[in-house]
Amino acid sequence: MGIGASTRKGQTPPPPPDVTPTKPETPALQEPAAQSTDGRELESVATKAPEVHKLLGKDKYVKEYGAIAMEDRNSKKAFQGTLFLFCARITDDIIFTYRDHATGSVFAKRFTDEELGEEKNKQGVRFTWAPFFKSIATALIKSRTTAVAAGVNAKTVSFTIVNKDTPISYPFTVTMDLVSSKQKPSRKAFFLYVMEPLSRSLQYSRHRATEGTKGLATVQMECNIKVCSAAAELHKRKVEELLPLIRPLREESAVCSHVAMTLGRDVRNMERHIYDQKNKKILKHPLDALYDEGGAQYFQHTMWSPEHRPREEEPDELLMECIRAAFPLTNGSTLESISNVLEQPNLKKRIDENGNRNLIEEAFEIFKGIDRWDYDTIQLEIITNGNALFYTTYLLLYKMDLVAYFQMDDNVVRNFLVAVQSAYHPNPYHNAMHGADVTQINYYIMIVAGLREKCMLSQEEVLASIIAGAVHDFDHPGLNNNFHSRTNSFLATLYNDRSILENHHIACTFELLRSPRYDIFAPLNADQKQLVRDTMLEMVLATDMGNHAKIFKNFTVRMSETSDWHSKKDDVRLALSMSIKMADISNCARPNHIYAEWAKNISKEFYLQGDAERKLQLSISPFMDRTKEKEEFPKGQISFMMYIVQPMIEAISEFLPSLSFGINLCNENKDYWRRKQEAGTE
Ligand code: CMP
Repeated sequence: MGIGASTRKGQTPPPPPDVTPTKPETPALQEPAAQSTDGRELESVATKAPEVHKLLGKDKYVKEYGAIAMEDRNSKKAFQGTLFLFCARITDDIIFTYRDHATGSVFAKRFTDEELGEEKNKQGVRFTWAPFFKSIATALIKSRTTAVAAGVNAKTVSFTIVNKDTPISYPFTVTMDLVSSKQKPSRKAFFLYVMEPLSRSLQYSRHRATEGTKGLATVQMECNIKVCSAAAELHKRKVEELLPLIRPLREESAVCSHVAMTLGRDVRNMERHIYDQKNKKILKHPLDALYDEGGAQYFQHTMWSPEHRPREEEPDELLMECIRAAFPLTNGSTLESISNVLEQPNLKKRIDENGNRNLIEEAFEIFKGIDRWDYDTIQLEIITNGNALFYTTYLLLYKMDLVAYFQMDDNVVRNFLVAVQSAYHPNPYHNAMHGADVTQINYYIMIVAGLREKCMLSQEEVLASIIAGAVHDFDHPGLNNNFHSRTNSFLATLYNDRSILENHHIACTFELLRSPRYDIFAPLNADQKQLVRDTMLEMVLATDMGNHAKIFKNFTVRMSETSDWHSKKDDVRLALSMSIKMADISNCARPNHIYAEWAKNISKEFYLQGDAERKLQLSISPFMDRTKEKEEFPKGQISFMMYIVQPMIEAISEFLPSLSFGINLCNENKDYWRRKQEAGTE
């Protein structure tokens, strides 16, 4: 029976222990609003009949403690959660609860005496109650059990029931159901299943420890809790005070970043034009150069974006060397300490002589955030003069030790990444900086949030996933699939209107990889190459939002069917596809100052497409008419977040719970537009 059992002491006289009673009706698992500290329990006190019997040992081994708490460690260091055993204050039900520290989720299982008897019999525990309770209490007091996930919405703990007089032992497991989570928080459940046993176990310790060090320790613990809560309250108030001051500053800084970025791009374009004029030639992208030798057809890089003249930029040699010195992190080094390598004598001397210390130090400050959701791609793009994609991907390949593992040639890696970066057009949104942004967030989901462990990814899959992020919008012309279809473009014909751009991005990438100068996968054997290619194809093609509903549904169905995400290749690929899709639209679930920047960029690109449609006398696509910006754009953003981003981040947070902070960020970004709308209508 789940929580909220209808049989209570005093209502149905319980049968003797170890005798299976008739099973009462089982209500669905609910949050405890209807059955815990509310009126129903009070009511049951008033009508409570005298107790008929007691389960021997229940008082001694469970009730007397108030509550027994056990810290569950998943390794020597980390606490995974806290497991409690206690009796409900009024109904005397036996309750097992578990609070997961990382996610804040609370799981609970509640038994009436009859139900526990029934469960004991069902699991074949043949001992009487006293050794039963003693074993369970001892296991908890001595931290001899661990909680294991039983699907997304349950946790199971296992006990060994022993009786010191007999050599026999029995296993006994309790599966607790989810009663509160970040997605569906229940304050009542949290109070009943966490706060209540916590405060009771504290009371008990205090009561027991009347004198000496134990007493002091308890009082100190209580003091610490009070000090911490007061500090938290103070902190919260400070944040509330500072927020109104910080918000406009952040917005101002976003505007400045944007101006710096746009100016930087203009300067680079002008430099390119001057260079082209001087050299009296237009440089070709390596892909076009490949086709000069007589390929079937040029890939149409410049068709819709005549100002895009891809030119490979030379990355800063010394900065690359510093990245190689810092990564992979070796024993003892942390992201926080990577700048120490800049002080290594050989590097320090050259950095000082080279005169690029400012750039390198600033870049390293940004690299320290590579494992963070607010990694500063925009600032990296500005300070490196448009090379954020190159440095971010280069760093990740070294950080994950993939270059050494696959024995890649550093020169080829460099050539490939430079070519990939230069293949991105200077579009307002679908540019190389977006490539960098998606690469880093896709990496974050895989490595920091735990997809790699959950799907047991191979090194080949990790490599494929990082490169898929980097190339996912290769040669994006800034006009979407629909535009290509409606204008019967070359690419629309080539790909029969199916995922036109996504096919183009990945096909171009593999064209580039044909040339040994760019073939980073050359050292891999045939099977490895096939695995990397298949994974990349699946991931990049999944970024077509035209297939969003299908992929999303597939994912939610598999979530409800399995918790094993590593045995089937299709599941692994589905999880990786969800990761890159999430990364692709993650701007909406990022801190507001980052989101606002991307929103500005996408609006610019939308309006450029709208202008092109107007020029061609086509109907203007939704949200792409610049004359309707004021009334349409905020609405469009709110809808996009409500119907696409939010369900996506909620689903992926169920899969990888540490990502659930993104839900709040997305809400904040929705509120940002609501506030703007309200300000506009005042
Ligand atoms: P694309 O990069 O091809 O795939 C993801 C799509 O999501 C992207 O094109 C945009 O059309 C859309 N998208 C991403 N971010 C936003 C945003 N902030 N507002 C509206 N649409 C977005």
